[in-house]
Amino acid sequence: MTPPKRRAVPVATEPAYEVRIGPGVLDELGEHLGDEPCALIADARALELHGAALDAAPALRDAPRLAVGPGERAKRFAELERALDFLADARLDRRATVVGFGGGAAGDLAGLAASLYMRGVDVVQAPTTLLAQVDASVGGKTAVNLAAGKNLAGTFHQPRAVLADTATLATLPSDEWRSGLGEVLKTAVLTGPELLGWLEQHADALRPDDADRAAEAVAQCVRHKAAVVAADEREAGRRAELNLGHTFAHAIERAAGFGRVPHGVAVSAGLGLALAAARAAGVLEDEALPARVADLQRRLGLPRDLAALNADLGTPLDGAALLAALAHDKKALRSEPRFVLPVRPGQVRLGVALDPALVARLLGAA
Ligand SMILES: NC(=O)c1ccc[n+]([C@@H]2O[C@H](COP(=O)([O-])OP(=O)(O)OC[C@H]3O[C@@H](n4cnc5c(N)ncnc54)[C@H](O)[C@@H]3O)[C@@H](O)[C@H]2O)c1
Repeated sequence: MTPPKRRAVPVATEPAYEVRIGPGVLDELGEHLGDEPCALIADARALELHGAALDAAPALRDAPRLAVGPGERAKRFAELERALDFLADARLDRRATVVGFGGGAAGDLAGLAASLYMRGVDVVQAPTTLLAQVDASVGGKTAVNLAAGKNLAGTFHQPRAVLADTATLATLPSDEWRSGLGEVLKTAVLTGPELLGWLEQHADALRPDDADRAAEAVAQCVRHKAAVVAADEREAGRRAELNLGHTFAHAIERAAGFGRVPHGVAVSAGLGLALAAARAAGVLEDEALPARVADLQRRLGLPRDLAALNADLGTPLDGAALLAALAHDKKALRSEPRFVLPVRPGQVRLGVALDPALVARLLGAA
């Protein structure tokens, strides 16, 4: 039998690195670590389920390990201090490499701790959720949360390598899998006909335990993110397109109470709202796009709009609370929210200010 295919996507940032994707790629970890000292910062649940795969790297076998989380608990500010103390207690020097293992939360913490420890040591990211493989582990953004909001304290710190082992996805709870699919769908709208068409062909067969098909979806998303990030490493322009659906999604997550609606599920509803806004504002040029996206949302088990999300939640989100949450978005310029709106597959318009009455109507506050 031929071994499952492995994909490699180069990311042309400064420094450049490679994202290795496919079932079993964690067995390459040793090559990226060499003989230098290293330490592991890992999501507790991922470590419990998939920690054995890390033993393939000799340098990591006896390395100090810090379990964090699970999930968003890793991004409390106090956890950053704990992670830095852990690196110092392990007496790591500047040659050290931190390995981040888990979902986006553990990866964000590991990346931030690595970027701060001794003014910066290397980090290798080994993401174990679909969302982290298609999005969070690539691009070098790191962060923890503050009381005032999510991701308010962070750095840009590109990893030395990313190993996205799609075999680890088999154990994902369905909400976390769907969350990743929300980002895949967003990326499909951003990249245009190729990934959108691929998704239309494969949506019904995409499953957490089909590591090879998942690897194809991950590779296509990473190729897109790599191109965007290489063109705009510090989000001075084009990188903002990755926020398609996110202004609405952040408002949904905040109004629902963080942790209640998985991020990518909120992005799916946010994408539906962005399509409706684009149509109403005369920005949308491809009239067939909303129906294509809605069909994919149905097949992927994702909400197509606010009404569908509210039906899933049981208790509808309050329109006024959504509006207030929108005003809170940290990307708001002088408190007026700006939106990324779809024009056609592969094309968006950035920084659109929408009529407040339209926004209120879309959010059910008018
Ligand atoms: N840095 C970036 O560019 C970027 C981009 C997008 C999102 N993010 C951040 O990523 C975070 C969300 O990441 P996420 O969606 O991966 O969630 P997460 O890290 O919170 O993980 C979700 C859950 O899955 C569990 N888990 C992880 N791997 C598993 C596995 N293989 N099997 C079973 N369970 C597993 C975790 O324990 C956790 O309970 C947010 O904090 C967000 O801000 C960062």
